[in-house]
Amino acid sequence: MKHQKLYERLMEIALQRSFLIPSFEIYGSISGFYDYGPVGCLMKKKIEDYFRKFFIKSEGFFEIETSTVLPSVVLEASGHAKNFVDPLIRCKACSSEFKADEFLDQKKLEASGWNSPEELLPLLKKEGIACPACGGEFESKGWFNLMFKTNIGPVEGNTGYFRPETAQGIFLDFSRIFRNHGTKLPICVGQIGKSFRNEISPRKGILRLREFTQMELEYFFDPRSPTIEKFSQVETEQIRIMVAGSDRIQKMSAAEAVRKGIIPNEIMAYFMVRQTQFYTSLGIPYEKFYFKKMGKKDTPHYSAGNFDLEIETSFGVIETIGNAYRTDFDLSSHSSKSGVDLRVYVNHNNPNEAKEGKENERKIIPHVVEPSMGLDRLFWCILEHTFREKGNKKDWAWFDFPPVIAPYSCAVYPLMRRDGLSEKALDLLGNLRAEGLDVIYTESGSIGRRYARADEIGIPYCLTIDYDTLKDDTVTIRYRNDGKQERIKVGEVYSTIIRNIKEGRVTL
Ligand code: GAP
Repeated sequence: MKHQKLYERLMEIALQRSFLIPSFEIYGSISGFYDYGPVGCLMKKKIEDYFRKFFIKSEGFFEIETSTVLPSVVLEASGHAKNFVDPLIRCKACSSEFKADEFLDQKKLEASGWNSPEELLPLLKKEGIACPACGGEFESKGWFNLMFKTNIGPVEGNTGYFRPETAQGIFLDFSRIFRNHGTKLPICVGQIGKSFRNEISPRKGILRLREFTQMELEYFFDPRSPTIEKFSQVETEQIRIMVAGSDRIQKMSAAEAVRKGIIPNEIMAYFMVRQTQFYTSLGIPYEKFYFKKMGKKDTPHYSAGNFDLEIETSFGVIETIGNAYRTDFDLSSHSSKSGVDLRVYVNHNNPNEAKEGKENERKIIPHVVEPSMGLDRLFWCILEHTFREKGNKKDWAWFDFPPVIAPYSCAVYPLMRRDGLSEKALDLLGNLRAEGLDVIYTESGSIGRRYARADEIGIPYCLTIDYDTLKDDTVTIRYRNDGKQERIKVGEVYSTIIRNIKEGRVTL
């Protein structure tokens, strides 16, 4: 058997089991574009909903949905037209193109203090790095802007761009949301949606895409009061932090990290704790990720400081969340470019109160802390960290997905097709689907084989209708992780499944 890397094996499984499909496959796929198949799509939507519940609804934050195409003036103001660039190099022999800095060790790159793509060429040479496709020599092609350009309407020159982040829509709508929803700081607005980046040479499956989903929050606050109400609930929680330039991961409480000035404020620390809770609840082990305090070169143009969440994967360590202290950068830029005053009133004595016309008021541009999560990268990390090889407990490879994001909540199987078992099973299936559960149904194959197929896509519960069902109206519920079963009343199936999902129960 050929030796496969984990990511090769997982990609094969993801394609076979309908998690992923290369986009435009029949015409020849293009790297950086992936579709989610029937199984993957269910799971992606569940991750989105879980994010929504965990980070938006439970906090009373707002969610909006904004345009994916932006007129160029927006991106000029935000700095993306000028700064959202990567250094491009081309192989002189075979014309393959690459992002110049991706071949170089991060530490050496930072130490070199490079400023232009041309300065990267001697560094590549010094490290003996040549074109991976043919071994040819590189030449610099300057900076490459990552935004997809389009024309809005038929009039030439009316340039627009597909948004490179969902955040800009939130900044543009801020003023109206603030006015319509209480005129008070802090206020937090989230958005889940597609972003587009014309990556130079995307590889690594769905880790670097040209079209991907982001789940972003913009927390607007008065810089004199960089606090968040629920910080006291999480301040003793331990987070793992690495400071750029050092390989050491330090574990400390959120309160200690703020007190020592490692994290700039409570708001950032709060979201880092919540992200830790979110990731671990999705099956990513605590010791497999950490927050990296980024060096200046790796900090985006709009940020006064970034803490990126990095995870170990079989592709290497990857960033899946950017936490940026965006200050008043975006609102100030849009204010000056549009000529619209985006300042808001806050009260001197109580910075979180904003009422107009009182003498102790002042007008400020709110500051912003932004947690920005990539959904596709998270999706891949969940596949990697919940994948279980065959052996030990089972004779097949399976996924240990937390029930809340498992693509199907349960499977319904009649033991036999005959004797009225199918009819009974179809009844149960119809009822569970009518309640809104995603349920899979199969009649064919041995029951053991059907259980194995369910495990392979991480279904946590299998319900089997057998001859006893006809006598006493009970079914068996089989738990994925230990394969153990119990009998429950048909009328209690739905509530049992819901309770189990809530409790994350995967064994009897
Ligand atoms: N609004 C801030 C922002 O967009 P970012 O660090 O550029 O920050 C945030 O992106 C997250 O979006 C990343 O941590 C990553 O998970 C995801 N992301 C960025 N570029 C991506 C790409 N080309 N493919 C897949 N995910 C990407």
